[in-house]
Amino acid sequence: MASSSVVPVVLDVDTGVDDACALLLAALHPGLELRAVTCVGGNAPVDAVVANTLRVLDAARRPDVVVARGAERPLLEESVDARHVHGQDGMGDLDWPKSQREPDGRHAVEVLRDVLLDAAARGADDLVTLVPLAPLTNIALLLRTYPEAARGLREIVFMGGAAHVGNATASAEFNVFHDPEAAAVVLDACADLDIAVTMYGLDVFYEPRISREEAADLVAGGGHGAAELAGRLVAFQCDRFGSDSATIGDAGAVCAVLAPEGVQREKLPVRVELAGTWSRGRTIVDRRDWTGDLSHDPHGQARSTIDVCLEVDARRYADLWLDTVSGRTS
Ligand code: RIB
Ligand code: CA
Repeated sequence: MASSSVVPVVLDVDTGVDDACALLLAALHPGLELRAVTCVGGNAPVDAVVANTLRVLDAARRPDVVVARGAERPLLEESVDARHVHGQDGMGDLDWPKSQREPDGRHAVEVLRDVLLDAAARGADDLVTLVPLAPLTNIALLLRTYPEAARGLREIVFMGGAAHVGNATASAEFNVFHDPEAAAVVLDACADLDIAVTMYGLDVFYEPRISREEAADLVAGGGHGAAELAGRLVAFQCDRFGSDSATIGDAGAVCAVLAPEGVQREKLPVRVELAGTWSRGRTIVDRRDWTGDLSHDPHGQARSTIDVCLEVDARRYADLWLDTVSGRTS
């Protein structure tokens, strides 16, 4: 049973260099109870994602955390990956020790259902914050297959989308672009099931950053521990992009669970573009003043109104991550 100050969380990942940064934070911070991690194809094929996730949890000395394999490919879109960004193994090609642990025998969607129904049975203090950091395929399958599992949810805080920019294309963010149908289904299902949603998108994603020097201090810890892994993940990104610092990426969404006051958010209507030639996968965040006369708009207001993160206290989130992975917060 979670105490009132500890938040039960489940992460859905496509580990991924920055997913690994998020996993370390979620596994090590005392303010979170990491109940399970579910894997989906995205940055890398799903079996590489499972292997990387198990390695990260080994580094964090968390063999107790359930890891489950989920969807191999998007609901409809062709499957692509981002190994050109994350390395051939999907996690920086660090030659990090492989885990001897196997994933759970259940599919990720079944683990999500079981964990959420268990939380619902335990009562209001135990509701789970679900933190998707990847294409939303597993989450769409869960909410449409087992809508009753929503009873175990406190909220969904997902990394994806953007109000103003793109990265996978000029107009779309990778997680939503990878499986636009899944993102649209999740937003629609959350409206149906009255699930609170926070979108930690590209408008804030790149801002919490760690310097090469801070990364080098982490690596110095050695021993194939969490700090060394954290430092090497940041160093890989610095080398990859030829920069003196690197974003903690997905880990910022976990920071938004731990320190929600660190982001400025606005409740806005959001749709996912599914048809546009150049805009497919865009999250269309409607920032118009709906108190005005918008009756001329044939589209009307989107069904889904969610909390969109528009600004972040970047140094606060960077320090939160750094203090946790270095062991200063324990
Ligand atoms: O657009 C950024 C997202 O795509 C992050 O979750 C990163 O890990 C990749 O999955
Ligand atoms: Ca990710």
